[in-house]
Formats: sequence, structure tokens, C-alpha cells
Amino acid sequence: MESLTNARDLEQIVRDGLSTLVFAFGYKTGIVEAFTKLQQPCTAEELSQKAKKKLRYIQEWIGCMVAAGIVTITDDEKYSLPSNKAQLITWGHTATAIPILSEMIPKLEEVTTLDGPKGFGYHEPFLQWLDVLRSSEALQDWNQRLLVPVMNLKQGNEFILDIGCGFGKHSREVAKLYPRSKITAIDMDQFSIDNAKKELTKSGIQNIEYLCMKGGQLPEEWAGKFDFVIIKGVLHDSYEVDEILKGIKRVLKSDGFAAAYDPAVSSFHKNVINDATAQYNLPFSLFQCLPVSSMGPSEGLGIGWGYERRKQKIEEHGFRVVQVGDKDIDTIQEGIVFQKI
Ligand SMILES: C[S@@+](CC[C@H](N)C(=O)[O-])C[C@H]1O[C@@H](n2cnc3c(N)ncnc32)[C@H](O)[C@@H]1O
Repeated sequence: MESLTNARDLEQIVRDGLSTLVFAFGYKTGIVEAFTKLQQPCTAEELSQKAKKKLRYIQEWIGCMVAAGIVTITDDEKYSLPSNKAQLITWGHTATAIPILSEMIPKLEEVTTLDGPKGFGYHEPFLQWLDVLRSSEALQDWNQRLLVPVMNLKQGNEFILDIGCGFGKHSREVAKLYPRSKITAIDMDQFSIDNAKKELTKSGIQNIEYLCMKGGQLPEEWAGKFDFVIIKGVLHDSYEVDEILKGIKRVLKSDGFAAAYDPAVSSFHKNVINDATAQYNLPFSLFQCLPVSSMGPSEGLGIGWGYERRKQKIEEHGFRVVQVGDKDIDTIQEGIVFQKI
């Protein structure tokens, strides 16, 4: 059989990884921010003073960044950071995931071992990292692209259920967007719900109730209650997908819609070759989603479970997947919108 892919330059990939770690260090310690506040091009001395860091260390950091092509240099040894502020914040913060994931290496090593434990729970610094990543602006933009078209499918959106709300930032944006709706947001993780409740009090938002509850154990009295069920970033993390889908079927109104959002990654490796979404998401899955979803009796899912298998599972539970927007339902995408048959 012919190989479908040519291996990329491994040396360059590893060197880029090292550069990313150095960039992450600069972002985390304020060097990047200090750089953006200076008139550019600037000298290493100016950056050292602005960042309040030792000159010799700043020189070495700049050297790494020039070698990587992140910082540019003039003939007279002055430096610029050409990326715009939004890019620096997004990718600087993303890069700081590397040291956080590294903290999980001993646990990952343990669960990967043939006779090791099945998985492990959420790493709190990772949840905090995720919360910062999801800025209000990014969530508002996401809602306009992926949630509003779903909500437009049905007149009346009085009751919305958000399963696996995490720190609840997204539910609060949904609550602001639909102030007349009543949102019930649940998560099985007490740390996340405590955080969500604290932020809710600060926000003054009145139309959300946060509850610590498992998605697979929705109360009997919720039968037929909800117009919309949102389940974002949860199914691939879950060890009780069947129970959650049974629960959604029970609590959804007959004309209601559910929308499950997970990273747009294919179930099949031959479809992920050089795919930026897969390159970005699968490492998080290996370190966190797969171990979390492996805690139950069945095999873990993780992001590599993929769009095609997720859609098949939803259909097996007696739902009809509906097309929203111009992508047909067989195209790999983030959202799967479904209705009871
Ligand atoms: C990746 S986070 C997504 C959080 C949020 N929905 C968002 O998009 O920002 C996944 C969340 O799902 C929750 N979760 C996973 N399985 C669950 C289950 N069976 N029942 C309730 N919550 C669950 C986790 O505790 C975690 O907070």
C-alpha cells in the first residue's frame, strides 16, 4: 500500500516546539506585553527596562525569538514584534498550555501503561486556562456564528438546558443574548459550578440557574421541559454518552432542538493529514479529554472519536440530524444539531 502522507521535517517541528515554549514564557512573564507597549523597533535595553527583567536574559529571549522568526531585527540591532495585539494574546495564551500539559505527563504515563489506571480527572490549571481562552468577545462571536442559527429554528426559547457548562462563561453570554429565556446550566464538577455561581453573583444576571449534576442523571421531572439543549465541548469528554443522549431525548420538547458542539475533527486518521484543527485539538485530547472520558466502564472517546462516529451515535439514539447553514450534515464541522424523530 502506498503511504498517503510524507513525513514533515521532524527536526523543524521539534525546534518550533522549543520556540513555542520560549514564546509562552515571554507571554506569561509580561515580556511580550512590555514589547507591545514600546515604540518599535526598540533595543534590548529598552525592552529590559520596560519588562523590568535582567538585560542578559532578555537578550537570550530575543535571540530565541529572532531565530524562530517571531521577532524581526534591523541592521542596527533593533527589534520588532510584528504580530498584532489580538494574535499575540490568542497565541501567547495558547502557547502557555504547553507547560500546563507538561504537568500532566506523569499521570498520562501512568494511564498509558498497559496495567495502569483507566484515566484521570480534570487538571484544575487546565480548566482555568480554558476559561481564559474563552473570552467574552470570542464567545459572542461564536454565538453569532453557531448558536443563533440554531435558536432561529424554533419560535419560543423559554427553557434552555446547557449540559457541561464548566465555569459557566458561555451560559452567561447565552443568558445575555436571550434575556427572556430561563437557562439551566449543569456540570458534574463541583469546582466548576462553585466558580460559575461566584461569577454569576458578580454579573447580576438573573436568568441562569447553575446546578452540580451529571448529564446522565437528569431529573425525571424535567421530562419534555426544554426548547433547546446545548452541549458544548462535552460529549467527547464524557464517559456516559449513552446516558446523556437518553436524558436529552427525555427532557427535550417534541419540537425542541439539541446542539452538540465538539472540535471539527474527523473520526478517520486519513482525513486529518496536515489538518490544522486536528493538529490544534488532538494534543489536548491526549492529555485531558481522553483520560477524562476513559473513567467510565466503556472505552474512552476523546476528540479522536471524531465527527462521523459522534453523528452516528446521536442517530443511533433515535434523533434526526438537521442541516443548519450551508454545510451538509456529512461535512465535518463543530456542531451537530438534532431533533427527536
Ligand atoms: C471542555 S469543558 C466545556 C465547558 C463549556 N461547555 C464550554 O464550552 O466552555 C467540558 C465540561 O463538561 C463537563 N462534563 C463532562 N462530562 C460530563 C457529564 N457526564 N455530566 C456533566 N458534565 C460533564 C466537565 O466537567 C467540563 O466542565
